[in-house]
Amino acid sequence: MNTDATQRSRNKELNTKTQDTKTQRRKEKLSDTSDTSDKDPTDSSAKELTGGTMHVKPIIAIDGPAGSGKSTAAKNLANAFGLRYLDTGAMYRAVTWKAMQDGITLADEDALAELAGRIDIKLEPDGETTRVVVDGVEITQEIRREDVTREVHHIARSPRVREKVVALQKKLGEGGGVVAEGRDIGTVVFPNAELKIFLVADTETRAARRHKELLERGEKADYSKVLDDIRTRDRRDSEREASPLRQAEDAVVVDTSGNSIEDTLAELAGLVRKRFPQLSVREKAQGG
Ligand code: CDP
Repeated sequence: MNTDATQRSRNKELNTKTQDTKTQRRKEKLSDTSDTSDKDPTDSSAKELTGGTMHVKPIIAIDGPAGSGKSTAAKNLANAFGLRYLDTGAMYRAVTWKAMQDGITLADEDALAELAGRIDIKLEPDGETTRVVVDGVEITQEIRREDVTREVHHIARSPRVREKVVALQKKLGEGGGVVAEGRDIGTVVFPNAELKIFLVADTETRAARRHKELLERGEKADYSKVLDDIRTRDRRDSEREASPLRQAEDAVVVDTSGNSIEDTLAELAGLVRKRFPQLSVREKAQGG
């Protein structure tokens, strides 16, 4: 099994490389499969590389604040390396949506815990995205609504809700082969993840991304309001007692400020290739 010290020293090396070769890596193309082309991701050498007793197919944990680029990066990375994408935020959003739908008082933790224990949340792969289904109703779009985003903190701060949601996430990660993104993936959900990435970006960049996203979805959005919301969510995510957003000690920090989506993907794909040389890039992703 990986010791903490081994993991930390690996990450130190990766972190240093990340800084040193950032510009160079931005130029890297996904099609650079020079050392990966003919290797089987499930071959036994994968075990050695991940410490011998961990997942043959790795778990990659991506954490970070709102707008740091987690969802896009995790989706792209999963697609590029043929891994499953696990959007843990969608689960907290799904519980929030259902609570609002059922008229549950969001401050009532007993009612929220009861709800989280009884609802059936399914994340179904749908091409390159994920369909979110709650008690048989598809709510993929609904959970992204601003009113849900505004209220999700009630659900995310409840330890009893988190316990239920995290149990489901752990189950979905069984067997590995997953890129999971959220706030507590590297610290709580998958503390043994073979690669942990903590994405950061300055607040203005994150607000600008979120603002653009809302406009593209046809929603009305005022930049300064979005900026305020991001600051509020940062504070709530970092200050709550239950599983606050925090960087795992053994996470590789990647700053995505000023990065295009392609830059971030190239940088993260570089980290994945380095740590798991036997994972090959899928044909589809190579084409761009
Ligand atoms: O995409 P965005 O960063 O806006 O949010 P999300 O990943 O969909 O997550 C929605 C909310 O769920 C976040 O504001 C967090 O408060 C919470 N969350 C969490 O507490 N733990 C996670 N592992 C994922 C999300």
